[in-house]
Amino acid sequence: MLAGRSLIEPEDFTIEEFEDLFSLAENIEKSKTYLRNSCSGKILASLFFEPSTRTRLSFEAAMQRLGGSCIGFAEPSSSSLSKGESLADTVKVVSSYSDAIVMRHPKEGSALLASRYSSVPIINAGDGGHHHPTQTLTDLTTIKRILGGFSGLTIGFCGDLKFGRTVHSLTKALGRYQNIHFIFISPKELAVPDYIKTILSQKKAPYTETAKIDEVMEKLDVLYMTRVQRERFLNEDEYVRLKDSYILTAEKLKPAKKNMIVLHPLPRVNEIDIEVDNNKHAVYFKQAEYGMYIRMALLSSILGVL
Ligand code: CP
Repeated sequence: MLAGRSLIEPEDFTIEEFEDLFSLAENIEKSKTYLRNSCSGKILASLFFEPSTRTRLSFEAAMQRLGGSCIGFAEPSSSSLSKGESLADTVKVVSSYSDAIVMRHPKEGSALLASRYSSVPIINAGDGGHHHPTQTLTDLTTIKRILGGFSGLTIGFCGDLKFGRTVHSLTKALGRYQNIHFIFISPKELAVPDYIKTILSQKKAPYTETAKIDEVMEKLDVLYMTRVQRERFLNEDEYVRLKDSYILTAEKLKPAKKNMIVLHPLPRVNEIDIEVDNNKHAVYFKQAEYGMYIRMALLSSILGVL
């Protein structure tokens, strides 16, 4: 039962609970009426302290499609935080106005802190470079819908694996499934953090690291591209030096397996050439759409309306 529970990091939910959400999301997508007014009278508060297009708007669309309504801000300067109010006080008050809170914040650990002061479930929409569990649900539901499951897959993560919270969350979540091989593709300055590698080692999940995407392209079932996270760099020159480390083109995809899929949490900057958008391997816009259905499944579950 997910009713009343927060989602701070992917491992807060079991694999079985994930699977229930994937099934629910598929049913929601396939039916125009299923659960459509189930959240009537419920309020979702969205507190976004960092920019967002997909996460905020897909949550708000999800809530409205379920018949509920939304309050919140996308610009923290318009809230009383700009007058010095603490996050704890903000969350305490907003939780008395709403039935669930979805929050994005630049500081690692902020969602966990919010959950300690909230009287309603907190959904972490990204806390710094740490976690983004609803993007993980989006990524997993996309892989499952298109490839049928996870076992036996070789998954390549490419780009900014140091700061990319979607990579950290998805790797942790996939590490719970059996028989997955991870390939981390990045310059050494943007390598996946040691703590993620330690988690994989503890789970006996095989992984390799390389800087060369061309050397591994033909092995991959999933290529997870990521943006170099400019906002997390302390040095702009370092960002400029690394930002175009990888630019995926149709030519580079030629050695790929027939059914290989390219995912990207988006936003995309330069790392995927727009010519790839119409390539048979590209599924990142469908992935963004699946994000709304999985968030409908999540909201209806944690709000206890099923
Ligand atoms: N994938 C993702 O988190 O996108 P936004 O930053 O637009 O929400």
